[in-house]
Amino acid sequence: MIAGRRTVRRFLADPVPDAIVADMIRAATRAPSAHNRQPWRFHVVSDTEGKARLAKAMGDKLRADRTRDGDDGEVIRQDVERSSARINGAPTLIAVCLTLDDMDTYPDERRNDAELLMAVQSTAMAAQILLLKAQAEDLGACWMCAPLFCAETVKAALDLPVSWRPQGLILLGWPDEPGRVRERKPLADIVTGLKLS
Ligand SMILES: Cc1cc2nc3c(=O)[nH]c(=O)nc-3n(C[C@H](O)[C@H](O)[C@H](O)COP(=O)(O)O)c2cc1C
Repeated sequence: MIAGRRTVRRFLADPVPDAIVADMIRAATRAPSAHNRQPWRFHVVSDTEGKARLAKAMGDKLRADRTRDGDDGEVIRQDVERSSARINGAPTLIAVCLTLDDMDTYPDERRNDAELLMAVQSTAMAAQILLLKAQAEDLGACWMCAPLFCAETVKAALDLPVSWRPQGLILLGWPDEPGRVRERKPLADIVTGLKLS
C-alpha cells in the first residue's frame, strides 16, 4: 500500500463526504505526539466561496512576494494562476496547523525551539496519516507547503484562532489523474549501518 501512494494534483468535481474527512482526521489523531500534547489542528474548507477567498488571498501574497523579489511578471502570473487553480479545483481543503498552547515552555530559546520542532514533527506525522488514509479511501491528495510562506494570510482568510500556525494545505478529492511515480533515492545513498543485499 505504501508504495502506491503518490501525490495527486487534479481532481474530479465530486464532493468528498464530511464523514470520510472526519474519519481521516480521526485516524490522523492516532499519530504519536510529543508528551501526547496533540498539537495538531485542522480546518476544513469545502465551500466554493471559502476556497476562492483563500486562493485569492494566497495568490495576492505570492504575487507581492515575487514582485518584491524582482521576478518576471509573466512567470509570477502563471505561478499565481497555477496555485489558485489547484486550490479552487480541489473539492476539499484541509489546512493543517499546529498550536503551542499545550506544549512546554522554557526560559531559554534553545529548549523552546525544541518544543516547536516537536510540535512540527508531531503535526507532520498526523498529516502523513491523512495522506495514507486518503489513499486507503481511493482519494487523491496533495500536500501544499505554501501556507508556511504566508501563515498570517491563511489565518486571516480562514479566520483561524490566534494560536494556530498553518503548516500546510492538503488538497483532497477523487483523482482526475493517477499521479506521477516519482523515483526514490536508493537505500545505499540514504542509509548507513545496515548491510544491504
Ligand atoms: C513538506 C512538503 C511540501 C510540499 N509542497 C508541495 C507544494 O507546494 N506543491 C505541490 O504540488 N506538491 C508539494 N509537495 C508534494 C511533493 O512534491 C511530492 O510529495 C514529491 O514530489 C514526491 O511525490 P509523491 O508524493 O507522489 O511520492 C510537498 C510535499 C511535502 C512533504
